[in-house]
Amino acid sequence: MNIRTLDDIEIRNKRVAIRVDLNVPLNGTEVANDERIRAILPTLKLCRDRGAEVVLLSHLGRPDGAQDSRFSLQPVATRLSQLLDLPVKLVAEWRATYLNSGLSKRVRPGEISILENVRFESGEKKNDQELGREFASIGEIYVMDAFGTAHRAHASTNAAIECAEVACAGPLLIQEIQTIERALKDPKRPLIAVIGGSKISGKLEVLHHLSKLADSILVGGGMANTFLLAHGHQLGQSLVEPDLAGEARSIASAAKVPLPVDVMTSNGISSSSIATLRRCKDVHQHETIVDIGPNTARMYASMIRKAATVLWNGPMGVFEFDQFGEGTRVVAEAIADTSAMTIAGGGDTIAALDRNGLRSEIDYVSTGGGAFLNLVEGKELPSLTALEKHASRTLAVD
Ligand code: 3PG
Repeated sequence: MNIRTLDDIEIRNKRVAIRVDLNVPLNGTEVANDERIRAILPTLKLCRDRGAEVVLLSHLGRPDGAQDSRFSLQPVATRLSQLLDLPVKLVAEWRATYLNSGLSKRVRPGEISILENVRFESGEKKNDQELGREFASIGEIYVMDAFGTAHRAHASTNAAIECAEVACAGPLLIQEIQTIERALKDPKRPLIAVIGGSKISGKLEVLHHLSKLADSILVGGGMANTFLLAHGHQLGQSLVEPDLAGEARSIASAAKVPLPVDVMTSNGISSSSIATLRRCKDVHQHETIVDIGPNTARMYASMIRKAATVLWNGPMGVFEFDQFGEGTRVVAEAIADTSAMTIAGGGDTIAALDRNGLRSEIDYVSTGGGAFLNLVEGKELPSLTALEKHASRTLAVD
């Protein structure tokens, strides 16, 4: 990675604008899960210790390029302020505060503020260059530390880096990329990938890429159905993608993909629905597969315990309902117990870990969802590309 980091730049008495990913779940006006906020605390400490003023930029949810109070970052500012035990101001009128006022250049070392949701700006998702230039002008240095949004080419994650006079990567971004890339490029073997989730179509590229890298891929969730279909099973009302059965066959032939031997089925998906154990070949016409079965979960757990590296993305079933969450729980416990290096990423995966109280047992839990998958797929991250271009441009001038 040929990019600049905060260690390469003097930030004392300077204002640093940092793009972070504080897209957290809310419960009304309260933050329901503050892991992404906690993940940026080391970056903030580093900047304060070095005497910089910090202005944070983030999105929250998917507002439509206009003010929408449901997506205000105020709850995030409040939670951050509690965690830091410092005032953290939410700045809605950011142009007036940082770009147009006579006082805008007065730096306040140690202060931390946060801009209102960048997706309230119509140019954000369009990667508008002018908006990027404005974001870059908030401070003297523009820091990209939003790993979770590094796969989006938006004004705050791409154009701002391109337009900034001085731009660099933050510590969280670097840590995420290095940890995930190291685990995939030179893994201790066997490397086992555990991939679940509802549809194979959303995970095709990841599966193709992993089929070349992993020693085994353990499949679960709705996407496992297409693998079962490819092997000739009748799956009742279960979600299947028949068009992708050929793809599933080719992935299975490139990597070792042991198929589920049993599944849990149900006649409905609600808190009162009952789970029934079936062999894969015995799924009834009116039933839907809702989880892997206990024999499959045991087989997966035993393989995971013998692995040297485990990468996990996606639950094994409809884990939100306890009676359909056993497969995910058994697999999550095996990942937590194994002595292998374990890496997990993705919103549902983290929710499944939290539901079973296992998050702290995983060696590395990524803050990224889509960005994590893009990196596992071996795709370019637009923010990283912009940082690399910026660094080579800067070096050429130096
Ligand atoms: C995420 O939660 O995956 C990131 O914050 C990106 O959010 P987005 O999918 O709305 O761009």
